[in-house]
Amino acid sequence: MSSSFQAPKGVSEYVPPRADLFYAIREAFAEQARLAGYGYLELAVFEDTNLFRRGVGESTDVVSKEMYTFEDRGGRSLTLRPEFTASVLRAVLENGLHKEGGLPVKVWTTGPAFRAERPQKGRYRQFYQLDLEAIGSEDPQVDAETIAIAAGWYRSLGLTRVRLLLNSLGCKECRPAYRARLQEFLRGLDLDEATRARIEINPLRVLDDKRPRVQEQLADAPLMADHLCAACKAHHDRVRELLADLGIEWEDTPRLVRGLDYYTRTTYEFDHPLLGAQSGIGGGGRYDGLSEDIGGPALPGIGFGLGLDRTILALEAEGAEFAPKPRCEVFGVALGETAERRLFGLVAELRRAGVAADMAFGGKKLKGAMKDADRSGARFAIILGERDLADGVAQVKELGSGEQSAVSLNNVASVLKERLSR
Ligand code: HAM
Repeated sequence: MSSSFQAPKGVSEYVPPRADLFYAIREAFAEQARLAGYGYLELAVFEDTNLFRRGVGESTDVVSKEMYTFEDRGGRSLTLRPEFTASVLRAVLENGLHKEGGLPVKVWTTGPAFRAERPQKGRYRQFYQLDLEAIGSEDPQVDAETIAIAAGWYRSLGLTRVRLLLNSLGCKECRPAYRARLQEFLRGLDLDEATRARIEINPLRVLDDKRPRVQEQLADAPLMADHLCAACKAHHDRVRELLADLGIEWEDTPRLVRGLDYYTRTTYEFDHPLLGAQSGIGGGGRYDGLSEDIGGPALPGIGFGLGLDRTILALEAEGAEFAPKPRCEVFGVALGETAERRLFGLVAELRRAGVAADMAFGGKKLKGAMKDADRSGARFAIILGERDLADGVAQVKELGSGEQSAVSLNNVASVLKERLSR
């Protein structure tokens, strides 16, 4: 019987064995980030509500409909983070990391984020992201570097069907004129009330409307790509050259608009074709005005957020080979108290030698203990009886083949380590 409680609706949780996969893919990301010189941040899970209002933008669905906002006991308005970028930038500025020299500041973080969305497969109210940001450089090489890190991570997991969708959203020089032009075009269309309202608040989002009736009318809509200023065009061309140099494939997607207001220039999304409606497994881009929006100095930035939950769904959908390191490689079974005591020490010795080892507890009989050994997923069992102990040996059994031999107790750890490496 379970307890009378359940996790709140829409919360994504992980228990073994899926949780082992969750943890392992996060570790694989930590390695990619380390190799590229990104340092780790551990951040607040809730923030001053105004950080997201000003950072992410009032007109976005995230801020206007999906935030978990509450008043604390001191009457302050706080919000569970719906994303990481605003928090990362807040922490960088607050700790003066941008003043230490050596821009860009390169950091990453991970953890849960919260959006009050309608839950469905791949869309949760508590979900998990890997977030990486490079703050303080306009160099297009940094744009390409972030994309290469994400692509490298997907590749390291064995995912082969991830698509990179790429666009440029211009800058504060060229976007206002384009926005006005787009608004003019959209006002002439036959659209419902809510969409008409959106034209005035956030016209670019209308391009993203998935309904066929809307899409049909958008065929001749002006595109940002055709209205970039010279500097934005040069930047975008350079990013694409660098991606080509790195052998990274992408699809130019001139209608790609992301759901957060801070994006400028390079914007991208990673998409997985087997995931249905929630196919966006990661997304990112530049936010050259965000620092000023939250009261900081002019400080350009770029980064991404990758969805851990959807990445796991993608791994499962592709049947990718990536597997976490086993939790148990060797399982110990002792017969009798003296043997059990020796085995307990042996298991500790194996762990010190870097072998994942476990044993049967509670004085189990041979049959029950061997069942535990099979269930543990271990490749080898060590069986230690009083007789073996007297002879100074342990029985080492390969669980797959059933093959068994006596190994001197002094050598068990090194013999097993060697056999496991084969
Ligand atoms: P985002 O596109 O809103 O971007 O989220 C990034 C990823 O988080 C998505 O591609 C998706 O995989 C995952 N995700 C978002 N919402 C949910 C949800 N309700 N359930 C499950 N997964 C979800 C950002 O958050 C930006 N801060 C990314 C960024 C960083 N841009 C620049 N730097």
